[in-house]
Amino acid sequence: MTADGIDGADGIDATADAPEDDGTALTSATSGALERAAEAALRPRRLADFVGQEVVREQLSLVLDAAQARGRAPEHMLLSGPPGLGKTTLAMIIAAELGAPLRITSGPAVQHAGDLAAILSSLEEGEVLFIDEIHRLARPAEEMLYIAMEDFRVDVMVGKGVGATSIPLELPPFTVVGATTRAGLLPAPLRDRFGVVGHLDYYRAEELHRVVLRSAGELGVDIQGGAAAEIASRSRGTPRIANRLLRRVRDWAQVRGTGDLDLDAARAALAMYEVDERGLDRLDRAVLSALCRRFAGGPVGLSTLAVAVGEETETVETMVEPYLVREGFLVRTPRGRAAATAAWEHLGLEAPQGGSGAAPMLGRF
Ligand SMILES: Nc1ncnc2c1ncn2[C@@H]1O[C@H](COP(=O)(O)OP(=O)(O)O)[C@@H](O)[C@H]1O
Ligand SMILES: [Mg+2]
Repeated sequence: MTADGIDGADGIDATADAPEDDGTALTSATSGALERAAEAALRPRRLADFVGQEVVREQLSLVLDAAQARGRAPEHMLLSGPPGLGKTTLAMIIAAELGAPLRITSGPAVQHAGDLAAILSSLEEGEVLFIDEIHRLARPAEEMLYIAMEDFRVDVMVGKGVGATSIPLELPPFTVVGATTRAGLLPAPLRDRFGVVGHLDYYRAEELHRVVLRSAGELGVDIQGGAAAEIASRSRGTPRIANRLLRRVRDWAQVRGTGDLDLDAARAALAMYEVDERGLDRLDRAVLSALCRRFAGGPVGLSTLAVAVGEETETVETMVEPYLVREGFLVRTPRGRAAATAAWEHLGLEAPQGGSGAAPMLGRF
């Protein structure tokens, strides 16, 4: 865990540096190991099937068309944005659209520059090299990468100690697709090597609605009467969560319900899983409830708040807070965390006069 993993001010970085999130929480934007296969089955394979994100799609389609018209590998592309919004999917789509082979690695997987040299020197012409969590590459690997991206060359070290020499090796043209949840952490020399930088943003409810309908089709389930919209609206703007909720609602409908995946089934299933209308789960609500009921709306220190809900400070900071901040339920102040009016309303409580944390409120509980 690095210090930069806990700044979280923009609310979009509860990700790579987060503590153990095994992705089993229903509302987690990251995925668990068991879930990978289910997820892969729902990935759109072509750009035309990728829902929403018009700007990024347009940018990519232009670069891909131009490259194909010229018969050359396209420029390197960087995809940034919060987890679960489709970065890996897009990387796969890029290779598929180019009809090019795809090599997949990630920042944390490349421990040494030598690991990267091995990958680079074995790339085929036109190959797409997808580097996930590219902001987590070690510095020497990063330097090797941007030279390779710019000059299509890698310096391979031969021998050890005083006798070691570096031999420049020419690389065939290839395309790096980088993905990052923390674009701000990429050093400028690396960032500048990307011809295209696409930023993915949270999906609108209407777009997620389309994601759910599409996924239901892929799963071969008949989703009816508002169930898709209901799932979409509780999915935190994130296709990964929408797909997960859809699978759970389908399970519920088959096992506990009538088999129909309709609005009643969606509501009953999501109530059972404790995902509410705004997509908050049990822990999210526990945090808001502690903040409003026990601390009179705050401000209260993060660690105090974490103890009150029986969680690690880090869990609250990286997995709970970002969404609450983004949705305007919670505010970070220099003196601690405070409940916004929306939090009181969401819990069905009356917000105190003069806002949260007004001194006279403290004595009331
Ligand atoms: N625009 C989209 N349209 C349809 N499904 C999507 C879209 N974006 C993401 N998904 C689905 O959501 C899940 C997570 O996407 P993924 O590409 O792994 O996200 P990321 O790499 O950004 O964390 C996958 O199952 C993927 O198919
Ligand atoms: Mg990914």
